[in-house]
Amino acid sequence: MPEIKLESDQPRATALVTGATVRVGLEIALALARSGRDMVLHCRRHDQRAEDAAAAVAATGARAFIVEADLTDQQAVERMFRDIGQMAGGLDILVNSAAVFGFSPPDNLSVADFDHFIDTNLKAPYMCCILARKLMKPGASIVNIADVAAERPFRNHVPYCISKAGIVMLTRSLAKAWAPDIRVNAISPGTVLFRDDEDEATRAAVRRRIPMARIGTPEDVAKAVIFLCDNAAHTTGAILQVDGGRSLD
Ligand SMILES: NC(=O)c1ccc[n+]([C@@H]2O[C@H](COP(=O)([O-])OP(=O)(O)OC[C@H]3O[C@@H](n4cnc5c(N)ncnc54)[C@H](OP(=O)(O)O)[C@@H]3O)[C@@H](O)[C@H]2O)c1
Repeated sequence: MPEIKLESDQPRATALVTGATVRVGLEIALALARSGRDMVLHCRRHDQRAEDAAAAVAATGARAFIVEADLTDQQAVERMFRDIGQMAGGLDILVNSAAVFGFSPPDNLSVADFDHFIDTNLKAPYMCCILARKLMKPGASIVNIADVAAERPFRNHVPYCISKAGIVMLTRSLAKAWAPDIRVNAISPGTVLFRDDEDEATRAAVRRRIPMARIGTPEDVAKAVIFLCDNAAHTTGAILQVDGGRSLD
């Protein structure tokens, strides 16, 4: 677990982002680092992407720790939080971003497929919240990344939508249970990054349904995380949509 050292020894807040080495998670980690936090970057495997992400975080002046865990493996998740406790001493922010997404129409869906989505997208964030809480002091903050599909289902992504609906209720339940010490909020993005397998016709159709006439960006989501952590002291249990108005239909 390499640590990239700072010249200053001033105590700084520490934030953990799951799925922090690619796409949306990486952008959130960079925004938190730029806002003055030391970063714990979670990845499934400590590969070159993790090294590159840690270097990008370190370039902002923050310390970067890499932790590795398959989030569907309870023991690995528990080990990860023990390591974080030893390395960082505590946690001020947790962002649950890691998730799986995939074509999964209901008719041929196996129970194992269903479990795969629920274990990764709902049970893992639940475990991370519970274990992070033990490292947090009053004033700490959790942000879960949900999806507009939590409330407006996609036809062919049934277990994904169910898992994200669960994240919304996880957020509200923990917000109530842990107030006033820990604020727990969620962000529901609309599309912010297309997948490689989506063709131009599909992409154009998605854009046409967004009142703001563009898909979002990972930066839009990262700014919402910073808002919830830094500028929303009286906000807990909120689900903040970052969808260009898509869910107004
Ligand atoms: N992209 C969008 O347009 C969009 C829209 C709405 C909501 N969201 C939500 O925003 C978040 C980030 O989206 P994204 O598109 O950036 O996601 P992504 O590209 O699919 O990346 C997700 C991350 O989660 C990690 N991950 C998945 N399963 C894991 C497991 N079992 N153990 C450990 N790590 C695991 C992946 O690791 P590997 O790289 O090793 O697989 C990857 O680093 C997700 O919660 C997603 O549901 C995204």
